[in-house]
Formats: sequence, C-alpha cells, structure tokens
Amino acid sequence: MLFDFATIPARERYKLMVSTIVPRPIAWIVTQDLQGQLNAAPFSFFNGFAGDPPVVGIGIGSHDAGRPKDTRRNIRDTGQFVVNLVSEEVRERMNITAIEFERGVSEPHEAGLATVASVHVKPPRIADSPVSMECELMQIVELGKESGLVLGRILAMHVRDEAVIDPVKHHIDTPQLKLIGRMHGAGWYARTSDLFRMDRIPRDAWKLRDTKLESK
Ligand SMILES: Cc1cc2nc3c(=O)[nH]c(=O)nc-3n(C[C@H](O)[C@H](O)[C@H](O)COP(=O)(O)O)c2cc1C
Repeated sequence: MLFDFATIPARERYKLMVSTIVPRPIAWIVTQDLQGQLNAAPFSFFNGFAGDPPVVGIGIGSHDAGRPKDTRRNIRDTGQFVVNLVSEEVRERMNITAIEFERGVSEPHEAGLATVASVHVKPPRIADSPVSMECELMQIVELGKESGLVLGRILAMHVRDEAVIDPVKHHIDTPQLKLIGRMHGAGWYARTSDLFRMDRIPRDAWKLRDTKLESK
C-alpha cells in the first residue's frame, strides 16, 4: 500500500514512521538549565552518525507550538548534555522521566534517580545506566518550526565495569548491557537478547564464489 506523505497529516506520518523505523535506541538525556536545575527525558529519534568526529544525533520536538522541550532548550542554552542508554533494569524509571512535567520540575528527583558528576560537562550522568556519553553541542539543525536535530560530539563514554571485556582493546560485552529499544505504538519496547550472527563477506571470497559457480 502506498502512503503519499504529501497527502497525510503530520500526526499520521509520525505514526507510520514510528511503527516501521524500529527498533530505535533510546537516548536518556540529562541536561541542566542556566540556573543549574536538572532535567532528564528519553528520546528515541536517536543514533550515532560518525566515528571521527564521534557524533550522536537526537530529534527533539516541542511541547506546544513555540515551546521546545526542555531538553532541547537546555542544550541550546548551555551547549552540554549527557546521553545515558537504557537497560531493562532502569526502564520503569526512564518511563517516569517521560512524563510531561511543568518546566522547573526535576525528573531525576521525581524518578528517584541517583546521579554521578561528569568529568567534562556540568550535567551529571545517571548512576544506574550501563553506558553514558558526555557530549558537547556541535549544531542544532532546525527541522521545521517545532523540531530540531541536535548533533553532539562525544567527549567521554562511561561503560559499566562488568560489561568491559578488554579495556585496552575497547572490547565491550554488548549483550551484558541488556539495552532496550523503542518499538511501535505508545508503549512497545524490544529487548536486545534475540541475536543471530552474520559475518561480512570479503570481496575476494565473493568473487571466488562466482568463479566456482561458473566452472560447474
Ligand atoms: C521511549 C520514549 C522515547 C521518546 N522519544 C522522543 C523523541 O525522539 N523525540 C521527542 O521529541 N520526544 C520523545 N519522547 C517524549 C519525551 O520524552 C517527553 O516529551 C518528555 O516529557 C520531554 O521532556 P523535557 O521537556 O524535559 O525535555 C519519548 C518518550 C519515550 C517514553
């Protein structure tokens, strides 16, 4: 079935996108406003976009017309944020921080979140998150009137000790992190425990396969 986005209202286009672009990793972002008030909220329009420089991107909307979500506003005002990743263990607390509280309410306080001071930026990281990335703002790409793509450079990454296989070679036991992803609809999520392996095919091995087939 064809869905022509030129003829579909924004809310319906959004439904098609979030029902099909899955699973999406979740950036659980901690920021501070100019007065130092802590803020935390999850965002699943999120991914990594470059290794060098190390860049993450997050699509952040508005609460109402002309009122950007506090996270985007704080990042714009201070240029700093921490992206925490969400494990099965912290999912309920992540969900509490998604409540659309009035400005000035501290979500980390509401969700009973312990935080740990960051090394390079003012906002702290979430203590129970298995991975946290300290980031500085590179650019906000305005997307229409009510959304912005926040691009941030990762300055440092904290990974839970038990998940580090080799700190010199930077090998991480990814399944041990038990990260979750956002799926379709309002409340569906995926675990990252249903794995299979598929190795990359070297070009020479692929060519050899053609030769073998031709000689049959
Ligand atoms: C799992 C999850 C993912 C979300 N992803 C996004 C997102 O990608 N973009 C967005 O604007 N809001 C997203 N939200 C909604 C925000 O978390 C919510 O509006 C929050 O109240 C914003 O808080 P803030 O105003 O403190 O920044 C998501 C909510 C949940 C539960």
